[in-house]
Amino acid sequence: MNESIEAIQSEALVQIMAARDERSLEDARVAVLGKKGSLTGIASGIKDVPQENKAAFGQLLNAARAAITAALEEKQVTLRDLTDRAALAGIDVTLPPRTVMAGALHPLTLIRDEAIGILRRMGFALADGPEIEDEFHCFDALNTPADHPARNEKDTFYFHSGKLLRTHTSSVQIRTMESQSPPVRIIAPGSAYRRDEIDATHLSVFNQLEGLYVDDDVSLPDLKGTLEYFLRELFGTATDVRFRPHFFPFTEPSFEIDVQLQIKGQSPRWIEVAGCGMVDPAVFEAICQSRKDRIFDPEKVTGFAFGMGLDRLAMIRWGIKDIRLLIENDARFLRQFS
Ligand code: PHE
Repeated sequence: MNESIEAIQSEALVQIMAARDERSLEDARVAVLGKKGSLTGIASGIKDVPQENKAAFGQLLNAARAAITAALEEKQVTLRDLTDRAALAGIDVTLPPRTVMAGALHPLTLIRDEAIGILRRMGFALADGPEIEDEFHCFDALNTPADHPARNEKDTFYFHSGKLLRTHTSSVQIRTMESQSPPVRIIAPGSAYRRDEIDATHLSVFNQLEGLYVDDDVSLPDLKGTLEYFLRELFGTATDVRFRPHFFPFTEPSFEIDVQLQIKGQSPRWIEVAGCGMVDPAVFEAICQSRKDRIFDPEKVTGFAFGMGLDRLAMIRWGIKDIRLLIENDARFLRQFS
């Protein structure tokens, strides 16, 4: 019996050594340690071993099993190693990686998302409207008289139908008041169109973000506080903001807003970034007539409105000198924002 244990052990070790892959190693294991394996068979014969020899037999059996198990484990590690090495054969892991071209958001998208994010945190909801507008929503309801220069064919794209490409997103403010009740607190980002001569600071299409807040007690300090906070969030908390009296047909009083920009190596400059004002009562009156109710009665509600060019904000933020770069899709320009 004892000799056969030794014979099984050495035979098993030879087979383990000879295994060329994990499969033949498993076969070797099953042949000796499996249910019908040679060592398992011998072990079941212990009951026939005379009492005085049982202990020695058991020890020998355990030693054989331990030796075989250890050999199996060691061989398994060696085989795995070989498999790994074979998988890497021919691959130079020290080569520099191939660069994957990653896409990036367009600067206009970046600045728009940032502006929307700030205003949404302040309670403004997004609103939308058509880019092909009628004169009522783009001009008449906004208290813009028929002879106002903005309505001139030289400045605005008209269709034969009399419709036009909206010259500002203020038209969305009108549409929102037609369909909602106060309090109204909305922002309308979107394209606007003007027949401008194209140069480094003008395109015939640009991107606006306008806002409107109407309630029963909205005041000029609300307007000032909201826009100062917004611009400081966008350009830095130390940014100086100035309100300059101006004229817009749809607001009274009206202002243009400048921020003071400190560009390295230059003396500080005031740059105009937005127009704003308190909604003119004539606008509320037009809404009342269009709605055929008095929910926006100028005696009851007040409001402020503002509008800014996102292209301009992007140009200021990143020091972009030519607005045309924003539409040319030149990868060398766009890559800088990735
Ligand atoms: N609609 C104006 C423009 O396009 C901006 C503006 C909006 C001004 C709201 C005042 C109030 O220039």
